[in-house]
Amino acid sequence: MHDELRQLTGTILVTGGMGFIGSNFVRYLLREHPAARIVNLDKVTYAGNPRNLADLTEEPRYVFVQADVRDGEALGKALTAHGVDQIVHFAAETHVDRSILGAGDFIRTNVEGTQVLLDAARAAGVRRFLHISTDEVYGTLGSSGAFVEESPILPNSPYAASKAGADVLARAYHVTYGLPVIITRTCNNYGPFQFPEKFIPLMIVNAFRDVPLPIYGDGLYVREWLHVEDHCRALARVLAEGRPGEVYNIGSGEERTNLEVVREILRLTGKPETLLTTVKDRPGHDRRYALDHAKLRRELGWAPAIPFAAGLRQAVEWYRGHEAWWQEILSGEYRSYYQQQYGERTA
Ligand code: NAD
Ligand code: DAU
Repeated sequence: MHDELRQLTGTILVTGGMGFIGSNFVRYLLREHPAARIVNLDKVTYAGNPRNLADLTEEPRYVFVQADVRDGEALGKALTAHGVDQIVHFAAETHVDRSILGAGDFIRTNVEGTQVLLDAARAAGVRRFLHISTDEVYGTLGSSGAFVEESPILPNSPYAASKAGADVLARAYHVTYGLPVIITRTCNNYGPFQFPEKFIPLMIVNAFRDVPLPIYGDGLYVREWLHVEDHCRALARVLAEGRPGEVYNIGSGEERTNLEVVREILRLTGKPETLLTTVKDRPGHDRRYALDHAKLRRELGWAPAIPFAAGLRQAVEWYRGHEAWWQEILSGEYRSYYQQQYGERTA
C-alpha cells in the first residue's frame, strides 16, 4: 500500500544508503514512492554493507555511487550526472562506543563531510536537503520530561558532539544561504540490517551464540525505541511535506530500560538469564533520552504504528532468519573491535 500522503517524485540522493537506516529507507522509497528515483552515495565503511541492497542490481530506479561525502568533486558529479533535486543525508560514523575509542573519523565524516555535502547541495540548487540528526544532540534527561525541538543542544559523547556540529551547520546553511534544509532528530532505531555493534542486534546475536550479554553499569539507562520502518515513513513524510528551516523530532514513546530490553530478548530467544553480564559502564553514559514528537503528529499527521513488543519479536525473527548476514560481519573487523571494547570488560 502506498503512503496515503503526497507521493515523492524526482531524484533523491541518499547518503549512507548501505547502512542500517539508509538501506531500509532506499527500500521504503522504491516500494512506496514509485515515481521517485534514488542515487545511493556511500563510502562503504565497516558499517556499510552492499549485501543490504544486493537484490537491487537490476532495479532501473536505483543507482549506487561509491564515494566519500568529503569528496566534493565526486558529489558534484553525482548530483549533476543524475539530475538530483533532493538529498537525504544519513552518512555518518554512528557508534558512540567507537567515538569514545577515537573521535577523528567522527569529526571528519560527520562535521566536515556534512559541510562538503551542504556546499555541493548549494551548487546543485537542490529543492530539499533533509539532514538526519539524533536525540543525542540534546544531551541527557532525568527520570521525567522529554526533549522538544527548542531544547538546548548539549551533546555529551564525541559522537553526539559531531552530530550536533553537523546539525547546527545544516541550520546555518538555511539561515545564511537559504538552502532548503529540514532537520529530523530521532531516537534509537531498531529492525532489519542493523549492524551488531548496536545494543539490540548485539544482544540478539550474542544470545543466539550463547555468548554473555554485556550490560553497561546498572542497566537502568533508558532509551526510546523506534522501529526503522516507522522512521522511514516519517522521513518520507517530512521530505514531502515538511517546512524548510524546521526541526522535527521523530519519537515513539516506547521507553525501556536496557535491562528490560535484554530480558525480553532472552525470553524471545529462549536463552537463560545467566547469560546476562554486568560490565564496566560507558564513560559519560547518557541516563535517559525521550522525545516529544507532538509537532510531527500535529503538522504532518505522522504517528508510529509498530509497538515495541511486536517490533522486537519481528527483529529477533529477522536475525534468526539471516544468520549468514551477521555471521559474515562477525568474522571480519568486528572481532578486533569486540575484543577492544569488551575484552577487558568481560574478562
Ligand atoms: P550506520 O552506521 O548503519 O550506517 C552509516 C552509513 O554511512 C554506512 O553505510 C557507511 O558506509 C556510510 N558512511 C560512513 N562514513 C561515510 C563517508 N565518509 N562517506 C560516505 N558514506 C559514509 O548508521 P545508521 O544507524 O543507519 O544511522 C544513519 C543516520 O541516522 C546517521 O546519521 C545517524 O547519526 C542517524 N541516527 C541513527 C540512529 C540509530 O538508532 N541508528 C538514531 C538517530 C540518528
Ligand atoms: O539515540 C539515538 C542514537 O542511538 C543514535 O544517534 C546512535 O547512532 C545510535 O548508536 C544510538 O546510540 P546509543 O548509545 O543510545 O545506542 P547503543 O546501541 O550503543 O546503546 C543503547 C544503550 O545500551 C545505551 O544505554 C548503552 C547500552 N549498551 C550498549 C551496548 C552496545 C549496553 O549496555 N551494552 C552494550 O554492549
